[in-house]
Amino acid sequence: MLSTSGSRLVRLARELVELGAAGVFAVAGTVEPHVRFGNDVTCYNVGLAGRTHGELGPRFDTFLADPPTDLRAALDRFDPDRQAWVLDTRDLPTGQFAGRRRYGWRRHAWARAEDKTWIHHVWARAGIPAAPSLIVPPEPDALARASRELDHGAGTVWAADTRSGIHGSASGIRWVRDSADAARCAPGFARRCDQVRVMSFVEGWPCTVHGLVMSSGLVALRPLELVVLRDHNHQFVFTGTATYWDCSPDAERLLRATTRQVGEALRDVLDYRGGFTVDGILTGTRFVPTEVNARLGSGLETIEQHRPELHLSLVNRLAQERDDGAIDSGWFQEVALATLATYRGGWVELPLEHPVPPQHRTIELTLDPTDTWRATPPGGTATAVVRTRTSPHGDILGWEPVSDELRGRLIAPLVVSALDFLRRELGLVLPVLTAPRDA
Ligand SMILES: Nc1ncnc2c1ncn2[C@@H]1O[C@H](COP(=O)(O)OP(=O)(O)O)[C@@H](O)[C@H]1O
Ligand SMILES: [Mg+2]
Repeated sequence: MLSTSGSRLVRLARELVELGAAGVFAVAGTVEPHVRFGNDVTCYNVGLAGRTHGELGPRFDTFLADPPTDLRAALDRFDPDRQAWVLDTRDLPTGQFAGRRRYGWRRHAWARAEDKTWIHHVWARAGIPAAPSLIVPPEPDALARASRELDHGAGTVWAADTRSGIHGSASGIRWVRDSADAARCAPGFARRCDQVRVMSFVEGWPCTVHGLVMSSGLVALRPLELVVLRDHNHQFVFTGTATYWDCSPDAERLLRATTRQVGEALRDVLDYRGGFTVDGILTGTRFVPTEVNARLGSGLETIEQHRPELHLSLVNRLAQERDDGAIDSGWFQEVALATLATYRGGWVELPLEHPVPPQHRTIELTLDPTDTWRATPPGGTATAVVRTRTSPHGDILGWEPVSDELRGRLIAPLVVSALDFLRRELGLVLPVLTAPRDA
């Protein structure tokens, strides 16, 4: 198994051992201090440093492109006959790693679906409505013309192509509201890409739907909230995902039907197999898709946690290899839907520029009946717990919902009001963020 982070491998290692793997060899870009593999797992820690997976990923890929002799030798001791299968989620150049078969990997053609300047072909093939957009070179005049055409009063959103790599968590996206924003943003796009997608800004709730293209049919799950906030420069700050939200039954039907159509189009156009997500914005009763993630997606933690026997990530690999013929997609969808409806959860993380004082590193918060945050009184029940941890690049604040009373609700406005509370009542120096709102 290969992963940037050891903590991501622990569950998979356990699953493989339980399923009777003859042995497990884990290669991790970094192994966090708390990570413990069982005795049955041999671990090779590459020892990379980086604050985010986005930073670690390219460093890990460079390492994997030419693994050192000691790793190759350790692998040969573990697997002298080179029979082992390599499980990874990287975009490596071939279907082999160190002379061994990679099993369940993203085919090169599939990665194309991650390009926001190409994905309109899939929307068209799927026959779903998409907001108008223009694809232009990153030159100030072309960007200005496209922006003038598509700005309906709230600005435009620019998205880079994948020339410099696949980008996520809003890192390759800029909200451009006026010519000053345009002048500030254009040089960054000129450096990183050949094409920019210019799209109207759409107000509404950022959300994602996970799907799975299986041999026996399409799976489309329930919409999840993407907790994307906005900073003082009105740039998007991706902070996490949450599964508390119940959108209206009509919206859910629309979003799931859209996802199914997108999955079919991915299968038809790219011969796609396996997990994917459709991300977009629910605006009134309309869904405006913004992108596809051509991978399993990170919002299904509740399924992995509460129904480990579904082996979601392994099913994804079986689907990618077309070895999933024995699994009925209808049954799989039903169980996954029921699990997502029953168990709710979420995570929110925010890098901080200023350290949080030691006495405030863990704070329990309670949401009172007027929807106001208070510090949880002794013996009281917390609605969310705020924990600050130190990373080599500064503090990271985590906001973890811990109460089922949030069932049905959007988390983004609650994160914003919790941050306001911490700033106002405890004097913490935190970024001022705002939430999306109803269109
Ligand atoms: N046209 C748009 N209007 C409003 N917000 C947008 C638009 N496009 C993207 N966003 C915001 O940026 C976030 C990230 O966009 P997305 O297309 O999912 O790209 P990625 O996740 O790869 O960065 C969305 O969740 C949404 O909050
Ligand atoms: Mg996204």
